[in-house]
Amino acid sequence: MCKTITNVIIIGSGISALQLSKYISEPLNVIIITKLATTVSNSYKAQGGIASVLSEKDQFTFHIQDTLTAGRFHQSEEAVNRLVQEGSAIVKGLVQEGLPVDRDSDGHIDLGLEGAHSQKRIVHCGGDATGKHVVDYLLETIHDRVTIMEHEFAYELLLTEDRSQVIGVKTKNEQGEIKEYFAQHIVLASGGMGGLYPYTSNQSVIFGDGIAMAYRAGAELTDLEFIQFHPTLLYVNGETKGLVSEAVRGEGGILVDEDGKRIMENVHPLKDLAPRHVTAFEIYKTRNQGKNVFLNITDIDHFSSKFPTITKLCEENGISIEKGLIPVTPGSHFLMGGILIDAFGRTSLKGLYAIGETACSGVHGANRLASNSLLEGLVFGKRTAEFINHAPIETFPESTVFSYQSAIHQDEVEDLSKTELQQSMMEHLFVVRDEQSIQEQIDWLRSHHVESFFQRSLEQLSIDKIQLVFMYMNSYLVSTSALLRKESRGAHIRADFPKEELFWKDQQIIHTVNQVEV
Ligand code: SIN
Repeated sequence: MCKTITNVIIIGSGISALQLSKYISEPLNVIIITKLATTVSNSYKAQGGIASVLSEKDQFTFHIQDTLTAGRFHQSEEAVNRLVQEGSAIVKGLVQEGLPVDRDSDGHIDLGLEGAHSQKRIVHCGGDATGKHVVDYLLETIHDRVTIMEHEFAYELLLTEDRSQVIGVKTKNEQGEIKEYFAQHIVLASGGMGGLYPYTSNQSVIFGDGIAMAYRAGAELTDLEFIQFHPTLLYVNGETKGLVSEAVRGEGGILVDEDGKRIMENVHPLKDLAPRHVTAFEIYKTRNQGKNVFLNITDIDHFSSKFPTITKLCEENGISIEKGLIPVTPGSHFLMGGILIDAFGRTSLKGLYAIGETACSGVHGANRLASNSLLEGLVFGKRTAEFINHAPIETFPESTVFSYQSAIHQDEVEDLSKTELQQSMMEHLFVVRDEQSIQEQIDWLRSHHVESFFQRSLEQLSIDKIQLVFMYMNSYLVSTSALLRKESRGAHIRADFPKEELFWKDQQIIHTVNQVEV
């Protein structure tokens, strides 16, 4: 078997991964491992932009307050302060370095507005192609101590025999070849788990691989019940086709039902720019009453030049922008929870770090504020790199590598199905859930022996089957968290506990292998 030793391994190739690799300093070498091409990431698809305090009218306290309010105060205020203050400096630095941000006719940065922001503070590139521009820009800054391995699927973290330290990762390629990579620092930056649902804005391959790997290795996970459903995915012929950015509502887009009635009118003081969980819930209710929902864009001048990506998406799916009505529905967009980390990206396991959507850094709480995710990737990518740069270089522990006692065989996972899992999540844990629906999901997963997957080797399975195992595991972790949180907060809406409860505000549900605690 091929074995490679380096200093830093990063799994994933989105903005947090690239930002981290940019800041890793000499003499450290980095290997980025990504399961498809570097451009297949949620970061690359990001439309809206990067929230950042840049305008003279804006203040750190405003952005902090907007973030806390949208997240329903289930955050670490210290982490939010850090996000906002360090984030603003990082974005200014990127602009000075040459990131091609959109500007107005006077040459000032053209700041956009999105839901639950009290100020215009969204920096964007190429209209609605911010993620692509930032990823392309960061890829250009990759230095020669970084090696990128594309089309390699990381599926198992390598642990010391006593399981106290992560020392590497195992990968497979499409030909079934297995490789082992060893390093002192292993960073998971592989995104959230939007692909657990058929309605999603995510790349179709985002299933929470990193989160499942960390769980199997013994790291602490938290806040998995908080999955954000973006209110407006393009909805055509019973399927979602991609994101229609919140920036469209920032420019004057209005949500209407099929009779033309505004659906956000008496729901929230911010109306169409209410926090995402409020807007998604309203669209969900309207659609459940049998009415289609549309974004009315007739008041937006120059729509196609402001939103070229969305215009193309609509055209490709037979929706005419000229008619002014874009059919929409909510779909899974972002995981607020993830692998529990500290201020430097460290997880509860020595040697293992997590950043970006894979991690729970305490900044998003129960509902992420729009355009705070690219910001988080930039801030935590840099912080984690700086921590790693200053960590003393250690010799490798004299230990054999931990191995599982038994392996999952291909025939044990024959009946797992991506479509069935996604449909079941839609039915039981979509925008609204209750005890019965969650319990039904857990029972369904148990009927597929999900718990037997946690602590057995995956070596004999194909990449597709390993991803299915991860999907079932992640669905189980989300469901068991959702069952325990007996309140509604942000994106976790329980029909049987419709109110926020003070007791739950700061409580976190923590998963470690075969154990869940409040
Ligand atoms: C959007 O453009 O609406 C999405 C941006 C985000 O998720 O923050």
